[in-house]
Amino acid sequence: MPPTPPSVLFAVSECAPFVKAGGLGDVAGALPVALAALGHDVRVVMPRYDVVPLYGMQMHPAPLAVPLGAGEAWCAVYETRLPGSDVPVYMLDHHGLFGRGYLYDPPGSYAHDNLARFAFLSRGALQLCKHLGWIPDVVHVHDWPTALVPVLLNTVERAGPFAKTASVLTIHNLAHQSKFPAHDLALTQIPASEMRADSLEDFGGINPLKGGLYHATKITTVSPTYAKEIRTPEGGAGLHQVLDFRGADLIGILNGIDESVWDPRTDPHVAAHFDPDDLSGKALCKAALQRELGLPVRADVPLFGSVGRLSFQKGTDVLLAAIHRILELDIQMALLGSGDPTTERVLDSLSRRGDRFRAYVGFHEGVAHRIEAGADVFVMPSRFEPCGLNQMYSQRYGTLPLVRATGGLEDTVVNYDAVTGEGTGFKLHDLTEDALVDTIAWAAATYRDSPDAFRTMQRRAMRQPFGWDRAAAQYADVYRWAHDLKA
Ligand code: ADP
Ligand code: GLC
Repeated sequence: MPPTPPSVLFAVSECAPFVKAGGLGDVAGALPVALAALGHDVRVVMPRYDVVPLYGMQMHPAPLAVPLGAGEAWCAVYETRLPGSDVPVYMLDHHGLFGRGYLYDPPGSYAHDNLARFAFLSRGALQLCKHLGWIPDVVHVHDWPTALVPVLLNTVERAGPFAKTASVLTIHNLAHQSKFPAHDLALTQIPASEMRADSLEDFGGINPLKGGLYHATKITTVSPTYAKEIRTPEGGAGLHQVLDFRGADLIGILNGIDESVWDPRTDPHVAAHFDPDDLSGKALCKAALQRELGLPVRADVPLFGSVGRLSFQKGTDVLLAAIHRILELDIQMALLGSGDPTTERVLDSLSRRGDRFRAYVGFHEGVAHRIEAGADVFVMPSRFEPCGLNQMYSQRYGTLPLVRATGGLEDTVVNYDAVTGEGTGFKLHDLTEDALVDTIAWAAATYRDSPDAFRTMQRRAMRQPFGWDRAAAQYADVYRWAHDLKA
């Protein structure tokens, strides 16, 4: 009999479809299902933000006490399942900490008690296991909000039921680090001896992610190229030395995508369905998107789409700086995004002028699907990109990604070669206005002048194997290695 695969607790701060701010939520909603299919007993714990409706959830009869500061904070535990699966999701419901209408920070401001909020989640995840009488072999934590778990496992929870529990820390985005004043350490109950350079201490303050990176049994990040980039001073966001030190335990595993949610054959959000053998529905999706956005309905003009956070990471500033030059080309562009308020205002006003550009400011799942389905080319000029999911979604919908060759974009897009016809998209290397304008012009020319090559690339892109099964098998290896080290 093969050994039972390690049991895994996913401790995360967001999880689709319940609540998500970005790709982390997508990963947390899909990877556990793929792991369960491999035989892992996998469960998810997350906060119950007030934006998550309680409808259909079961409340556990007993509340949960979570050590915090000098005392305890009590929460209710709600339980549900990831849709279409038996994977249990436990939500810790503490109104004072998570009943605020936002996940991490209020819009345009900071939540000053985030150490308390996410120390509560991290410690609460472990308390929950005791309360369930279920001690996992591995706790899999994600980014800074649950990065204290490996530190807790190696300190306050070192003896006792978790003595053999390993930890895996996945870095989804190294740029997201939260730092807190040293005197707040007491909130976490972690001993002061951890305030040292090879643990939590960072320029005199507390850096939960740094502590997690030192303490985790294994570390992963979301693409092989990003795994290399973060070990350099340019890509390491101040932590490259830590990552280099832990290099032997740092593994890049490319994210997958949820192929049941992002499927042009069944997508409920789009005007028509299609597949690689019959792209006629895609033309209908394009016309419907043009109508929805008030753009001229033209099949001959290439429609460029973009969806994402309006942030420095995504290169939105370069796209906007070049936008007047881009719109001199005979193209159309449809952009969906939210984030920086100034950028939102600029997009709104650009959108009211001319008949080539439309922006939809806000977070809208349906519009995201319609842009993926209706556009010809998907623009993602990220300054850095740990993995990126949209370039994979777009390929599944035959929308060729135009990306900067960085991180996961480098790993998931093959640059078009006009001589051989190979490729699945268009790449630029330098993030400059000139390079962006030139690459957009190149993609537009390929659409117009080489329709057969374009169509062949679309079909090839749609057939790329981006499902979660490959990544899940790699995570299963990492869990086994981590578990073996602790057993
Ligand atoms: P990141 O996590 O850095 O934001 P990813 O590409 O990994 O980037 O994931 C972003 C996810 O969030 C995708 O599922 C994308 O469709 C979604 N998303 C981002 N912005 C919006 C928006 N304004 N409306 C709807 N979905 C969005
Ligand atoms: C982060 C990254 C993004 C990645 C996502 C999921 O938000 O910015 O590149 O795809 O996490 O891992």
